[in-house]
Order: sequence, then C-alpha cells, then structure tokens
Amino acid sequence: MAGENIADEIKSRCNIADVVGRQISLKKTGSNHTGLCPFHNEKTPSFVVSESRQRFTCYGCGASGDVIEFVKRYYNLSFLEAAEMLAKEYGIDWKSKSFNRDEKREKFYEINKAAALFFYAAFKRGGSPANDYMNERGVSAATLKKFGVGYADAMWESLYRGLSEKGISEDLMLELGLVTKSGNGCYDRYRDRVMFPIINTGDKVIGFGGRVIGDGEPKYLNSSESRIFSKKNNLYGLNLTRREIMKKNQVILVEGYMDVIALYDRGVWNVTASLGTALTAAQAAMLRRYTENVVLCYDADEAGRNAAFRAMDLLREAGCAVKVLRMTGAKDPDEYIKKNGGEAFLDLVRKAAPFVEYKLETAKEAADLSETEGSVAFLKEAAKILRNVSPVEADIYIKKTAKETGVSEGAIRMEIYGENGVGSLNPYIPSLRTAERSAGRASRAEAASDGALRLAPESSRMIEKYFIRLLLLKRSYLPKIAPYARVFRTPALYRIYESAAALYGEEDEIDIRKLADGLEAEEQRLLEDILRNVQLADKEDEVFRECVAHVETAELVVREGEIISVLSVADEDEDSGKVERLTRELLEIQQAKNELKGR
Ligand code: UTP
Ligand code: MN
Repeated sequence: MAGENIADEIKSRCNIADVVGRQISLKKTGSNHTGLCPFHNEKTPSFVVSESRQRFTCYGCGASGDVIEFVKRYYNLSFLEAAEMLAKEYGIDWKSKSFNRDEKREKFYEINKAAALFFYAAFKRGGSPANDYMNERGVSAATLKKFGVGYADAMWESLYRGLSEKGISEDLMLELGLVTKSGNGCYDRYRDRVMFPIINTGDKVIGFGGRVIGDGEPKYLNSSESRIFSKKNNLYGLNLTRREIMKKNQVILVEGYMDVIALYDRGVWNVTASLGTALTAAQAAMLRRYTENVVLCYDADEAGRNAAFRAMDLLREAGCAVKVLRMTGAKDPDEYIKKNGGEAFLDLVRKAAPFVEYKLETAKEAADLSETEGSVAFLKEAAKILRNVSPVEADIYIKKTAKETGVSEGAIRMEIYGENGVGSLNPYIPSLRTAERSAGRASRAEAASDGALRLAPESSRMIEKYFIRLLLLKRSYLPKIAPYARVFRTPALYRIYESAAALYGEEDEIDIRKLADGLEAEEQRLLEDILRNVQLADKEDEVFRECVAHVETAELVVREGEIISVLSVADEDEDSGKVERLTRELLEIQQAKNELKGR
C-alpha cells in the first residue's frame, strides 16, 4: 500500500522514545525505556518502549505498536491523521508525498533493483574487469555476491538499453541518476566501474557507489540525492549487518565501502560505513537503535582523525559509548585486515580505547610535556575534554592525568570545573541529558540517579538469563520482573523476555515450542542455552531476590560514585543546602547498601 512508504519515512525519522517521552515520563533502562502505561490505569510501570525495535509494549494491558500507532491511540486519531501529525512535527514534506508520488517511489525501487541485477549479471559474465579487480583485492566470491557487487561496462548505452527494453522511461532513469542527458540522447552515467548497490534496512536498493577500476577520478561516483536516496539517513551494509550488530551489541564504524566488505569477508560482520560523508546526527541516531557500543575505525590519516573527532561527539550525543580503534602500519581497516587477518583486527577492537582516553592521548601527543608551557597547554586541553564527561569518568582521568603531569588533582579539578565547582558541572553529558529529558521536571542531580543501569556486563547478562528462566517457570514472576525490565540490555535476551511476556497474555503456561517459533535463530539458540544451562535448583525465590539485590546494589553504587565526585568539588560555603542534601542521600545509600547485603 502506498501509505506504507510515508509510514516508513516517518518511522525512520521519528524516534519513538522521544515521541512517547514527551507525553509520559519514561525511565531509561538499558536500551529501553519504561513508564506508566497511558492506555490503562496502573501504579507500577509495565509500559516499555524499545528504541532498537522502535515499538512500545504494555505488559499490563497488551497494547503495542510503532510510533504511529502510539500517536493514533494516544490522541485518538485515524492512521492518516496520526501519520500527518508526526510528519508535520518532524518537518517531513507531507504534501509532496501524496499517494501517487509514493507509487512512484515503489517504481524507483524497482528500477534500481533492475539496474543492480543488470550490473550483477555483467559482473558474473566471463572476463569482467570488475570481477578480476575485486578478486585481485582479495574479496571472496561469496562476499561479493552477498553485497551484490556488479559491473557497469565501458560501453555508453548498455544500461540505458537494458532498462529501456524493460519499458522504463528515460525520465525515471534520469531522475535516479542512472543516465545522463546529452543533446538529444542519453548515455550511461556509470561506465567501466565496480558497482556497489546501497541497500537500506528495508532491503530496497536506494542508490549506487561506482568505483573506478584501478586509478582515476573520481574514485567513487555516487548516486545523487533523490526521493529515495538520502546519504545522510543511511549507512552502508546495515541491511546485512544489523542482526550481528544487535547480537554482539557492538558496531564497528568505518569510512568506506571497501572497508565494510573486507571486514565482512574476514568474518567481522558487525560493521557499517557512513558512506564517506562525515557522520550525521541522523546516522548516529540510527546506529543507536541497534546498539550503544560503537567502535570507531576511521582511516589512519589526518582526514580520518578529524572525521573521527566529529563523529565521537555526535555519537555521544546520540547516547552511545564510543571507543576508538588505532591501527598502525595500514591506512585503513581494509588494508589492515588483509595484511594481518581477522584475529589481529579483533584484537585491536578489544584494545580500542574509550573516547576520553583517545582524546587525552591525542592532546598529549600534540603537546611537549617536557616544557612548562607544553604541560599547561595540555592541561587546558584536558580540562576541556573532561568537562564534557560524567563526573565518575572525569574522576578516573583526573587521577591519571595528575599522576602523569605531576600537577595536583585539585588544580586539575579547578581547571575543569572553575572556582564554583558544582555550578559548572556537566554542561552536556548525553546520558544525563537523555535521563533529564525523560524525567521531565527532574533536576540534573536527581536525573542522574535515573540514569541507565550500570552493572558489569557479565553479571548483567547473567541476571537477564535468570529472569528469563524464572519467567518461563511461572507466570507469577511476570509482575515481579516487569519493574526490573530495565536490566535487559542484550537485545536478543530482551526479545525473548518480551515474547514470553506476550505469550502470558494469551496463556497461563509458556509453550516453549510456540515461544521458539516466534524467535529468530540466534534468539532460539540463546533460549536453548538458558533452558539447558541456567539452573534454579528449586530455589527460585532466593534466585529472584538475589538478582534484585544485585541490581539495586549496582544502581546504588553508581549513584554513590556520582555523589562522591560532586561532593569532592563542591564549595561548602556557597551551596551548603546542596551539600547537605547530597550528604544525606549518601548516608541513605550506604545504609541501603548494608541492608541489601544483609538480605
Ligand atoms: P576512501 O578513499 O578511503 O575509499 O574513501 P575506500 O573505501 O578506502 O576505497 P578503496 O579502498 O580505495 O577502494 C572513503 C569513502 O569515501 C567515499 C566513499 O564512500 C568511500 O568508500 N568517497 C571517496 C566518495 O564518495 N567519492 C570519492 O571520490 C572518494
Ligand atoms: Mn581503502
């Protein structure tokens, strides 16, 4: 149906968490948000918004759907009215997307697909220079096929004729940038190039990148922006790699087509590229839906470093935890992995430094620490960097920097936070900002305690598994676990939880076969693993209590750290009310921690 295309665009542009978050107070819980369901009366939150799936689900009343469905129900509108409301709000050109035009969009996808198949056939034909070139670059036939790599031959009208024979009009080919007009005729825009189809996450061919074979200018010729191709809203390869990104809960972000293909070819599947442009906020938001862990792996040259710096900040603002991978002896990941193999590359991924560390390192390298002036310049730069991270993070690096430079921690803190300390704290910390947005009126300090749950990844995953095991055992665990649904940070485990909870909406007992049927292959494997290996030994209530104590303790520890680092820079005379309040909270936390220990 034509309306679906408008819906697709709306869904890709409006983040459901923002739309819902403006109406009801949500608490960020890993990659999800929970709150009180607006569609029925409840006192404990069972309304969950999943950012990765862009859906809401209420475990109390069973309401669920996408962003349009939410607006439809919340404001009591028809589908079209809801879609229009969102489109207007997000500046999506609603009028130009009348139904006829949307049919045109379908047509465009079809033409691009035909072109991709045409290029692919030419690539496979014996002796195609593109095939030879890609073989020389060491990419396996299987990977080339996966990415649908093709060849635009050196003649002037091959594609033009091929598509004309299919009855496709010149105008449409022109609009898609497949052909160019000259005088009274048309000729192919891509000639003698390796063709990389760009496919969106809805599996539509939206454009192409064509690489010259060998040397020549321009190296890559890309589709021009069109109704169906918007570079800044898409990421290369994500159609093939998003499952793996969710599964690994990590994405490796690279610059180029060939980097994605080379990594994929060597078994590194959780990869995507920003299509050569500087990363955009839309791309960052898109990635954040699949994972919050981004490993930046841009080219090792000046341009790559600069692009990485910009990307880091955008990704942080989108709520991602960013690490930076450093390569030596190769100009880009493609070259590195071909030289050193997949294992060596994965080793670099494991060693990738948190972005703060990377920024500090870079600043240190730029300064001459043997000179006083160099040290001062470095400290000023370090202060700028540390001003923009959470107090807990800053604290770690303040200590480290003090040790390295021999300057006292106090002086560094002063440089970062100024004389007033607390007042200038955290001008922008993504995690707090998100929490603040969801918490509505809450002040910054209060919002901080609402921040995401930070358990060690191992124990957090174990608790997720225990929760699922308990849930599968008895329906009565559903209302007990629902308030802690925020512990689900592994997307696949969350989906198992979600599916099990949904089944309880229909039946009192879970039919494992039925549950498994609704899951993806890797989720099924996880489910099997849980059933086989997670033992409750008839102690389900103890297990549940222990999990909860673990979760609550971890949250208290995070808050404790935050308060301590705020207190450590607070000016007692100026803000005694705040100091007193935080001190009291700290005592309460410590008490609560002891109580949890005794449970
Ligand atoms: P690179 O020059 O690093 O390309 O540009 P690459 O992917 O490593 O290509 P190979 O290995 O030389 O074949 C990074 C990305 O910038 C965009 C492309 O998306 C490319 O993958 N780019 C580059 C263009 O769009 N046009 C160009 O002329 C060059
Ligand atoms: Mn390259």
